[in-house]
Amino acid sequence: MTSTPASGELPQLAAVALEKAYRKGQHVIPVLRGVELSVQRGEFVAVIGQSGSGKSTLLHLLGLLDAPTVGEVRLRGERIDDLPERVRDELRNRVFGFVFQFYHLLPELTVLENVLTPLMIRQGVLSYWRQRRTLRRAAEEIVQAVGLAHRRNHRPAELSGGEMQRAAIARALVAGPEILLADEPTGNLDANTGAGIMELLHQLNEQTGLTIIMVTHDLAVARHAGRLVQLKAGRIVETPGTPAGDPDAVERLRPIVPMAS
Ligand SMILES: Nc1ncnc2c1ncn2[C@@H]1O[C@H](COP(=O)(O)OP(=O)(O)OP(=O)(O)O)[C@@H](O)[C@H]1O
Ligand SMILES: [Mg+2]
Repeated sequence: MTSTPASGELPQLAAVALEKAYRKGQHVIPVLRGVELSVQRGEFVAVIGQSGSGKSTLLHLLGLLDAPTVGEVRLRGERIDDLPERVRDELRNRVFGFVFQFYHLLPELTVLENVLTPLMIRQGVLSYWRQRRTLRRAAEEIVQAVGLAHRRNHRPAELSGGEMQRAAIARALVAGPEILLADEPTGNLDANTGAGIMELLHQLNEQTGLTIIMVTHDLAVARHAGRLVQLKAGRIVETPGTPAGDPDAVERLRPIVPMAS
């Protein structure tokens, strides 16, 4: 979104002096060395950096998939990385949507069933069963919005890379996340298919105000975002943002309104 946040507004998500080191045998390998990153609601931020610079690591820490060695992750000013596991699980499910580089779709489930999994996890079996018609309708809407209605009963093995990525995006959106964390969402796609995924992310950001933090090693892809930051030597370096692409050039999908719980 192009609107600038009111000054003084707390960042929606922030990394504060974030450090992460991995232990390999006797060696401790520092990956993140004091990352500072503040993201306002509705921003579309691209994080670029060389392979191995820690982009995935950072995304995992921000989304509570892993814990920092030092530092904090804050949601609207409140520290969230040190909350009890149950609360972190809950936040992960309610606040964040993840798009993984290699999709992580469940091979034995259809597109629609894959998209439904976050709702099943959130609702629990009994509640899911009671609401299954409504939830299924919500999942069908999202699947249609990402252009996969004709593939909804297909299994991942029957899909192209772009279609799998669209399914993964639909699954990330179905529970109505506030923040989408996307790890190399176009990494395995040809240029055209990748451009289609970028258009989709763009529209989500513009039309629904979804906050997006996208990791990529591809500068051409990163230029689609409203703000560009670089991960270098374990720290974030801000780069003057390139304005998001011309919305007129993008064929509009109908607005996608992720289902509120
Ligand atoms: N679980 C782990 N255990 C040990 N080392 C790890 C682990 N995860 C990542 N690393 C190391 O941390 C560094 C950063 O990895 P990360 O996956 O975050 O990089 P990246 O920037 O996402 O790279 P790419 O562009 O190739 O995806 C790498 O040197 C990697 O080997
Ligand atoms: Mg990575």
